[in-house]
Amino acid sequence: MSVKSLLAGVAACLLIAQPTVANDAVTEREDRMKTLGSEAKTMASMVKGRSAFDADQFSFSAESMADAMEGMLDLFPAGSHGGDSAAKAKIWDNWEDFSAKNQAAVNAIAGLMNAADEGNEKAIKKAFGMVGKSCSGCHKKYRIKRD
Ligand code: HEC
Repeated sequence: MSVKSLLAGVAACLLIAQPTVANDAVTEREDRMKTLGSEAKTMASMVKGRSAFDADQFSFSAESMADAMEGMLDLFPAGSHGGDSAAKAKIWDNWEDFSAKNQAAVNAIAGLMNAADEGNEKAIKKAFGMVGKSCSGCHKKYRIKRD
């Protein structure tokens, strides 16, 4: 086999491999987002009084959210939009702003973890509200609405 055809083969592999990497990232970030969504639901139900208020549950949920946010930006490789993804293409034209919104969520979740550890119901509810705002602050601009 010539070097040239070998290189062509390698190039072809890379072309095939690349979208797979992006797809893995999309699947992984959607899974993480689903975790955020289900934890938010659990906490919202307590905030609305539909389930018993439990500060420990806020601690668990906030911690689970913090884990889900770990390395989130790495799961948004450039151009990984389209297809089944609800990510808008403009994420990568506004990467600094998108990163700031990601950081705002990380900070809000850290605030919620602190409030939950202190156990003050009013402070926990307020901190949860801030988390919710940080989610929608990003979704409004960077997530395609499908509902
Ligand atoms: C920095 C931006 C950003 C932040 C902050 C953010 N999200 Fe998302 N979220 C997205 C984007 C973009 C998508 C679409 C991802 C895709 O489909 O590729 C998404 C998708 C989702 C989905 C749908 C997942 C699916 O595919 O079923 C849920 C649920 C969700 N986010 C919940 C949350 C919650 C709850 C928070 C706050 C704790 C949050 N997100 C914070 C950007 C963000």
